[in-house]
Amino acid sequence: MTKNILITGGAGFIGSHVVRLFVKKYPQYKIVNLDKLTYAGNLENLADIEGMPNYKFVKADITSAEEIFSLFKENCFDGVIHLAAESHVDRSIANPVEFIFTNIIGTVNLLNAARDCWKDNMQDKLFYHISTDEVYGSADDGSFFTESTSYDPKSPYSASKASSDHLVRAYHNTYRLPVVISNCSNNYGPYQFPEKLIPLAINNIKNNKQIPVYGKGENIRDWLYVEDHARAIDLIFHKAEPGKTYNIGGNNEWKNIDLIKKLCEIMDDRLKRPAGTSAGLITFVKDRAGHDLRYAIDSSMLQKELGWKPSLQFEEGLAKTVDWYLANDTWLSHIISGDYEKYYENQYVNR
Ligand code: NAD
Ligand code: TYD
Repeated sequence: MTKNILITGGAGFIGSHVVRLFVKKYPQYKIVNLDKLTYAGNLENLADIEGMPNYKFVKADITSAEEIFSLFKENCFDGVIHLAAESHVDRSIANPVEFIFTNIIGTVNLLNAARDCWKDNMQDKLFYHISTDEVYGSADDGSFFTESTSYDPKSPYSASKASSDHLVRAYHNTYRLPVVISNCSNNYGPYQFPEKLIPLAINNIKNNKQIPVYGKGENIRDWLYVEDHARAIDLIFHKAEPGKTYNIGGNNEWKNIDLIKKLCEIMDDRLKRPAGTSAGLITFVKDRAGHDLRYAIDSSMLQKELGWKPSLQFEEGLAKTVDWYLANDTWLSHIISGDYEKYYENQYVNR
């Protein structure tokens, strides 16, 4: 069956993996990737699939109702997979307003456009909102987040994502818009912007720079390889009942300091440095304001109902990730130099 699918935020980290998976796996689908190309959007992430006949890139801003409605007038999509967001907690602490516009107003603009487009026939339509486990707050008591855990967001980022989740559910309840939501734990893997912990640490170790560890490094995150998240999204998009929410996680909790030490070991091995060299770069710095202690996801509903499970052990995934960053030095150096921002102009404008 053919489908016309809009993926938002497809030039970002997770979005690029989702776009690649869908474009390659479903040649009969038409995939439109909408992205504003903020600092986090990098079309070099998709250079390998750019010429595929079932793929199209559209530069647009989800905070502009006009741009979104005009795109939906051209294509009344069968499905929307919504990943576009401001996604970095530290940036949300420095500048919360951007998060309110993109994550809340942007989501409402997409919901309104889908609602308008699908008003006469909602059969086989789906609005899939991609969210985070951070909406549940911090599981300090050792419990796991399930789909019925109460929302308790604690950063401007997680509060803006929680707000967008509530709005998506409200559109289902009020207008019967067919929606699904998934809330995933921390992702890692190729193409992640080096402001997030793992790629930042890899880049710093490579360049013999200090590795900043917030507080005492005792905070715990549940890490999932990004391609496992993309597979879960594919499954949920095709199999989930409208109205459902699924939690996605790696069942893989690590204290930040233990993760960094493991990463240092792998880097010493790959860079042929004496054991312990990279760990010497670890530097404890001022803690993040309001830093959530622990995230931990219970993904048993997704496993039981849709048969998903993570494919990689963490140590294998981490080694694979290190190897990818070391082999893709040009990708990384374009980000560090800012050259990646010229890719759109060169590829799409000045041709
Ligand atoms: P990212 O920051 O790497 O990518 C976000 C993308 O959205 C970028 O390409 C950016 O250009 C685009 N974008 C931002 N503002 C836009 C706007 N106004 N209009 C159009 N496009 C815009 O983020 P990511 O890590 O790939 O996360 C993707 C989604 O998954 C987000 O919704 C995030 O909340 C969610 N999520 C992320 C993680 C994680 O560990 N990274 C975990 C769970 C959920
Ligand atoms: P991050 O990758 O920003 O993801 P999130 O805040 O969404 O979980 O951070 C992961 C963990 O690593 C988090 O506990 C904050 C910590 N951290 C550091 O200790 N140093 C750093 O330089 C960064 C970016 C994060």
